[in-house]
Amino acid sequence: MKLNIGIIKGDGIGPEIVTEAMKVLDKVGEIYGHTCDYTELLLGGASIDVHGVPLTDETVEKAKACDAVLMGSIGGDAKTSSWYQLEPSKRPEAGLLRIRKELGLFANLRPAVLYEELEGACPLKPELTEGGFDFMIMRELTGGLYFGERKTEEKDGVMTAVDTLSYNENEIRRIAKRAFDIAGKRSRKVTSVDKANVLDSSRLWRKVTEEVAAEYPDVTLEHMLVDNCAMQIVKNPKQFDVILTENMFGDILSDEASMVTGSIGMLASASLNDSKFGLYEPSGGSAPDIAGKGIANPIATILSAAMMLRFSFDLDKEADAVERAVDQVLKDGYRTGDIMSAGCTQVGTKEMGDLICERIQA
Ligand code: NAD
Ligand code: IPM
Ligand code: MN
Repeated sequence: MKLNIGIIKGDGIGPEIVTEAMKVLDKVGEIYGHTCDYTELLLGGASIDVHGVPLTDETVEKAKACDAVLMGSIGGDAKTSSWYQLEPSKRPEAGLLRIRKELGLFANLRPAVLYEELEGACPLKPELTEGGFDFMIMRELTGGLYFGERKTEEKDGVMTAVDTLSYNENEIRRIAKRAFDIAGKRSRKVTSVDKANVLDSSRLWRKVTEEVAAEYPDVTLEHMLVDNCAMQIVKNPKQFDVILTENMFGDILSDEASMVTGSIGMLASASLNDSKFGLYEPSGGSAPDIAGKGIANPIATILSAAMMLRFSFDLDKEADAVERAVDQVLKDGYRTGDIMSAGCTQVGTKEMGDLICERIQA
């Protein structure tokens, strides 16, 4: 099979971690007889440096012509990078938000899985995580505060900034259906997370989620307030199966979830639209503090590539092979610095990619 893949290496650690994921995809291709055809695309700071804007129409069109896009991460250090002297709509993050919107990527899946071997890297007490945990965050990605009206103005001599949080029922229904569909194939529980004790948008979210739940009698729905959810993730992560939530809450809770799995460097992410197309990227950022040092953990990006094989290409066996290789490398005691624990062997980004490639078997 020919896999037509867009590649956005991005900024900071992006090129380092994407290079390893491409090696893994090529190895899968070699073993299973697929050809990966890559089209390099510019987004974020890398696009600003060449075109003066974080995303061009040409990149959008080229991305649309691909079957899927694999991305590193974009952005830089806001204090030192010249990208942040530009107005907000021209900064790296604006390009990421626009491409998500243009490609209709409303469903963001972020799987939080504690590998048995990483229990030592998890900051929670062992009795809270014994036997591991495995939950999926289903984050709405093209609505809410990120895409509402915003302005900054002076009123009566006082600077005032406004961001608007709005959802319509159709946006809520389509993401809720995705969450229930996925829960139906897992442990059949959806925890819908909102702030319905304060926000109208959350009250509508709750109403629509309940309507959707009525269509899925074999999936249980529970509601949880977001502040409580933040606490429950560290108190009892094993209680969750699918967490369904809006854009901003999902952003925050997914970083929290990543840490209980050991590191943000472990948390994959798939952003999907209504078709098979997806943008696959690690949940974390461009990590300017470690960029260029060859020490970033490439596993989140490699696991994102596995999600791409599964969701965009229906290559389940190949995705399983990548996930098994990651599991094996951890069992064999290899760790990047962020997940390092006593008795393990510390390796860099490239070495970790090589070790995973060596372990990919049909
Ligand atoms: P970050 O996720 O880049 O870094 C937070 C911490 O996690 C840092 O200490 C970093 O070294 C560490 N870290 C992240 N990924 C790692 C990896 N693979 N291996 C080892 N350690 C890793 O968050 P930040 O510092 O708040 O943001 C930096 C830049 O990244 C900002 O410009 C932000 O906007 C951008 N960002 C982009 C994305 C994306 O492209 N999807 C996501 C989040 C943040
Ligand atoms: C993420 C990132 C982005 C987000 C930023 C870089 C705009 O934090 O993908 O989690 O907030 O969605
Ligand atoms: Mn984030």
